[in-house]
Amino acid sequence: MTLNSFKILLIDDDEDDYINLRDLVQEIRRSQYHITWKSTYSEGLAALREHKFDVCLLDYRLGTHTGLELLQEAHNLGLRFPTILLTGQSDFDLDLQAMQIGASDYLVKGELTSPLLERSIRYSIKHEMDMEELRESKAQILQQDRLASLGLLASSLAHEIGTPLGIIRSRAELAERKAKTLPAVQEDMQTVIIQIDRITKLVNSLLHLARGQKSELASAVNLNDIIQDMKNLLSHELELKNISFKADLSAQYIVKAEAGPLSQVLLNLLVNSVHAIDEACLAGRKENHSIQLSVREFSERVTVALQDTGCGIQSDHLKQIFKPFFTTKEIGQGSGLGLATSYKIVQSWGGTITVKSVVNEGSTFEISLPKFMA
Ligand SMILES: Nc1ncnc2c1ncn2[C@@H]1O[C@H](COP(=O)(O)OP(=O)(O)O)[C@@H](O)[C@H]1O
Ligand SMILES: [Mg+2]
Repeated sequence: MTLNSFKILLIDDDEDDYINLRDLVQEIRRSQYHITWKSTYSEGLAALREHKFDVCLLDYRLGTHTGLELLQEAHNLGLRFPTILLTGQSDFDLDLQAMQIGASDYLVKGELTSPLLERSIRYSIKHEMDMEELRESKAQILQQDRLASLGLLASSLAHEIGTPLGIIRSRAELAERKAKTLPAVQEDMQTVIIQIDRITKLVNSLLHLARGQKSELASAVNLNDIIQDMKNLLSHELELKNISFKADLSAQYIVKAEAGPLSQVLLNLLVNSVHAIDEACLAGRKENHSIQLSVREFSERVTVALQDTGCGIQSDHLKQIFKPFFTTKEIGQGSGLGLATSYKIVQSWGGTITVKSVVNEGSTFEISLPKFMA
């Protein structure tokens, strides 16, 4: 939406009303208005789903339905837009009902004038913007609350289960070594160790999520060393899957971070890329897969870009992938914590993570980190 050009959707079953409103809209001189007319409930709903309009003028009478029913259904579908309800006659109860459902204004058709319409549209758009802001900050507060209690839980959990887990792990290692002549037992012990490491990782992720905004522990980290370690760690799996991994390590970059958590962040992103490539293969795109890591430097920041040829991310998921517990993977496959914790970790050093993606082509995640200034 630009400030001097507005797109109006009119949902009204009466053509005369459309002509009348179109004429009124044309008289408005202050800004440009484009009006699109839909005459039925279902066409109106379909048009709203396209998100192409700045404001909706909604007739109360719509065949066998009412405009309020349409508004309610649109809200149930998660569609939010500035709405002005139009009726044939003034009716206080209806006005009240419209307000409760979330209409921003209520106008009586016979009393409409151009200035009134212009003013109502402007105020409705502003009202919806304010509501959107309110909804966002409410969601943020809820999220923060959830993270704070999660953090509390995670730290007591980490404390309570850390020691017994450590003991179980070392005993399992011992048993594995002792069982040299019993391959079946050895295998069982390896499974025990892998699963313990999984629990430890999960608890650590929860702890990271509850991290404060700023980490005091950030210091000089050689990015190339971390990338080289990742390469060594994953090269075998990548080779098995026929994924080419390219990382340009020609220049040296020293960033302000913590080595362990930074490895964790890169690993989270790389593992996601491998999963996304698996997904692309399942969908039939089996050849020429790659993960490319490149590093760039801008004045005081270093950016690591990780580009994959995986399945890509749908646009309505893009907004959600950094939220804790958002996952498209099956139960047991994904926790939905990888990106949320990575984001928190990078943020605690004053960095950011951004993403670009094209469905069926691939995704690029960029981690921007502050350079270490000696
Ligand atoms: N490189 C990628 N390509 C495609 N989708 C991705 C990629 N990285 C993350 N995603 C999407 O983001 C979601 C959240 O990722 P993450 O937080 O790591 O949790 P998880 O991997 O446990 O699902 C994934 O389920 C997936 O839908
Ligand atoms: Mg993940």
